Amino acid sequence: MNKSIIPYGKQNITKEDIDEVVKALQSDYLTQGPRIKEFEDEFARYVGSNYAVAVSNGTAALHLCTLVLGVKEGDKVITTPITFAASANCVRYCNGEVVFSDIDPETYLIDYDSVKKLLEASPIGTYKGIIPVDFAGRAVDLEKFKVLAKKYNLWIIEDACHAPGGYFTDSKRVLQNCGNGKYADLAIFSFHPVKHIACGEGGMITTNDEALYKKLIALRTHGITKNETEYSNSNEFACGQATESEQFPGWYMEMQTLGFNYRLTDFQAALGSSQLKRADEGLIKRRAIASNYSKAFKDAQFIKGQSGVVVGHAYHLYIIEVENRLGLYNYLRENKVFAQIHYIPCHLMPYYRQFGWKEGDFPHAESYYKSCISLPMYPTLTDEDQNNVIELINKFYV
Ligand SMILES: Cc1ncc(COP(=O)(O)O)c(C=O)c1O
Repeated sequence: MNKSIIPYGKQNITKEDIDEVVKALQSDYLTQGPRIKEFEDEFARYVGSNYAVAVSNGTAALHLCTLVLGVKEGDKVITTPITFAASANCVRYCNGEVVFSDIDPETYLIDYDSVKKLLEASPIGTYKGIIPVDFAGRAVDLEKFKVLAKKYNLWIIEDACHAPGGYFTDSKRVLQNCGNGKYADLAIFSFHPVKHIACGEGGMITTNDEALYKKLIALRTHGITKNETEYSNSNEFACGQATESEQFPGWYMEMQTLGFNYRLTDFQAALGSSQLKRADEGLIKRRAIASNYSKAFKDAQFIKGQSGVVVGHAYHLYIIEVENRLGLYNYLRENKVFAQIHYIPCHLMPYYRQFGWKEGDFPHAESYYKSCISLPMYPTLTDEDQNNVIELINKFYV
């Protein structure tokens, strides 16, 4: 019997990762140095987007996205109730209105037909955008949502925190990587330790839109620009005296819009770059673990649903739906297996209830919540530990 705790997710830090972080710590830059752009370029290449902007965490990434898309008071934005609260909260940061829409009980993703119905029920212009979430690592079919977005004049922010390396296959049989910017205006990722790539804290925004990219870069650093062609103040003002020179002095910069300090540090970026080198390896392992769970529970009577084996799934989480989920959760914990629940439906969080959301609003999401449990899933999970988890679950239901 394994004596140490088996968590549901866990980072994997190697000697190479540590060496890269130490190199960054010993360099001239702890922040605002070259490792940021390197990480951004590597990440953009990995997902297949034109641009990437590294930020301090996934929540900051979402906030910058709603800001650059111009969300303002009363703007209605659609998202799923089965997600981490940040996917919805970013709309509230801009005083927008979150409109939840139910999930598909098979995929656990936001349900296309429910969103369509919602849009059809109101005049065009009622809703400003949609934030689909590649929940658990399963890619949303964004091609379908893009058709709706065009028709109803919506933007799309893909919350791909769970899905670096995930993909769906579009109608032309082309694989579309999560975050590649083909169908979404912006996509965001998180580098929290339980995610595929760990920076401690960290996030990334990807896009193919140059104008949005430029805005994001400015807003990440207080809305400051050092680009002379964008300055509004005069050269004479900048110099502090009359001058013949047309050049702005070296110290000069302008804060042109209200931004934030949402920067990632260079040593976090160094860790991210090093982790990214092993991202594909980690995905192979995650998919093998998913395949083992899927086979183990295929004919089990107590299984009401499970993540299963899905092409393109990035398996941040492997979820099973069971009877007596509370009993199973407690039994696993007694046996040092720390399974987790993803997620308590966001619309039923006390904060969102105050806007009128209530039990019964989303039957699929609410029924899913009553039975879901996320099993241990991370690349260093050993066969022995996984078998232990499977045996415990089987034993509990005997
Ligand atoms: C789906 C989803 N969106 C957004 C976030 C926010 O990311 P972060 O924790 O890096 O702020 C998370 C993190 O757990 C997440 O799971």
